[in-house]
Amino acid sequence: MRRGMFITFEGGEGAGKSTQIERLARTLRARGRACMVTREPGGSRGAEAVRHVLLSGAAEPFGPLVEAALFSAARADHVEQRIRPAVARGEVVLCDRFVDSSRVYQGLAGAVDPRSMALIEHAAIAGMMPEMTLVFDIDPGEGMRRAEARRGAGAPDRFEKEAADLHRRRREAFLAIAAAEPGRCIVIDASGDADTVERVATAAVLAALQIRDAQAAKGEVA
Ligand code: TYD
Repeated sequence: MRRGMFITFEGGEGAGKSTQIERLARTLRARGRACMVTREPGGSRGAEAVRHVLLSGAAEPFGPLVEAALFSAARADHVEQRIRPAVARGEVVLCDRFVDSSRVYQGLAGAVDPRSMALIEHAAIAGMMPEMTLVFDIDPGEGMRRAEARRGAGAPDRFEKEAADLHRRRREAFLAIAAAEPGRCIVIDASGDADTVERVATAAVLAALQIRDAQAAKGEVA
């Protein structure tokens, strides 16, 4: 049996992650890879229940630490109910947002101190760190325009409606994570059209899977 692999997709609003995840899943399945697509916050029954509380802004009055803890509680359920079992079955798991979103959205500018963030993260994932993270990078102005177009007449969620400056700082924070963890993260220029972005993202993932398969065949990975 092939080894599973846990891959996450990160970036600001309107970067096109969801579209790219669907396309990648189609490509992988066409190549005979079992593939699970999921997202955060949510992805499991317990986590989907918490998703509404977070995105509606109902938890906002309780402050950033409570919000961070709720994202992590949702994540802990998602990891144990769905992600870890799927990887153990040999599937490629494609997850729309994961710990880097918490680091960036909740941890930015010390809203929650880094030590608490690290402890919460550690407890939530219990070692289930993604092997690969694609960071979709886009100018926040363009991202917000895309997010608005996608949303149509619907209202922005709690995190979309924040100020432009904050979106810029989040972009920098995602890029800083990618720079600090080059073995895990790869930055994808998401400003191009969907087909161009797809080519780049697909090439990166297929290369990583090929390397992993080769290592597994040689017995270099478990
Ligand atoms: P959603 O509409 O699901 O996603 P996207 O923006 O990726 O299309 O919204 C999820 C929102 O939750 C998004 O604004 C980022 C935010 N978020 C956090 O603040 N912390 C987290 O840990 C996660 C996973 C998401």
